Amino acid sequence: MKRFTNVIVRRPCRAMTEGITSGLYPGKPDYALALIQHDAYIDALKKCQVNVTVLPADEEFPDSCFVEDPAVLTERCAIITNPGAASRKGEILSIKEAVRNFYPEDRIEQIMSPGTLEGGDVMMCRDHFFVGRSERTNEEGISQFTRILKKYGYSCSEVKLEEVLHLKTGVNYLEQNNLLVSGEFTDKEEFSSFNRYVIPEDEAYAANCIWVNDKVIVPEGYPAVLEAVKAMGYETILVDTSEFRKLDGGLSCLSLRF
Ligand code: GLY
Repeated sequence: MKRFTNVIVRRPCRAMTEGITSGLYPGKPDYALALIQHDAYIDALKKCQVNVTVLPADEEFPDSCFVEDPAVLTERCAIITNPGAASRKGEILSIKEAVRNFYPEDRIEQIMSPGTLEGGDVMMCRDHFFVGRSERTNEEGISQFTRILKKYGYSCSEVKLEEVLHLKTGVNYLEQNNLLVSGEFTDKEEFSSFNRYVIPEDEAYAANCIWVNDKVIVPEGYPAVLEAVKAMGYETILVDTSEFRKLDGGLSCLSLRF
């Protein structure tokens, strides 16, 4: 049965108030509140029986608390990405250092320019990876990613994005063949073999829940999604992510789980 042993998070930096945002959820993040919410997120992860490595805030990169994007960590290898957002490319240097504590050098791979890829576009379902082709993840990035995964016995398929930032903005796997889907992903043929729960439009943000060792962490403020996840039989933990949401960030963006 699948288990995560480790999680990596990075403390939000003061510069997060200048992070990238689509403006879909308006307002500047309140830094003090973001730190409190980040503490609660770490506490929630600890309740899921994982070791949590907390990296220090990095003021050079406003979006660096969204640690999911500069790396994809699997049971067999680590893949350092090449973020499509120019202001985030430098995040890979310190994440690679952190990843070296968990993977031998010959199992650390890298996406190279002109390929771009962000971890938010990658959804792992058993030994198969869905990867979103988005404004951040391009064709060359997906092709390098597919080659790397194949080397380690994994398969990969592309999902074209039309509307949302990252693949996992709108679709998330909760194990046991259960999938939360919203918006443009609701009727996608690629996901037809899963048990799909279609997220109501007014709760679209909560498509981004995370499964961690049979518990599911759900963002606070989305009662229909919370009930649906409970009805699937999961124990749930609520975490308020309002300040990260203003930067289009969700629960999955805030950690690397492996
Ligand atoms: N604000 C997170 C991102 O756009 O990458």
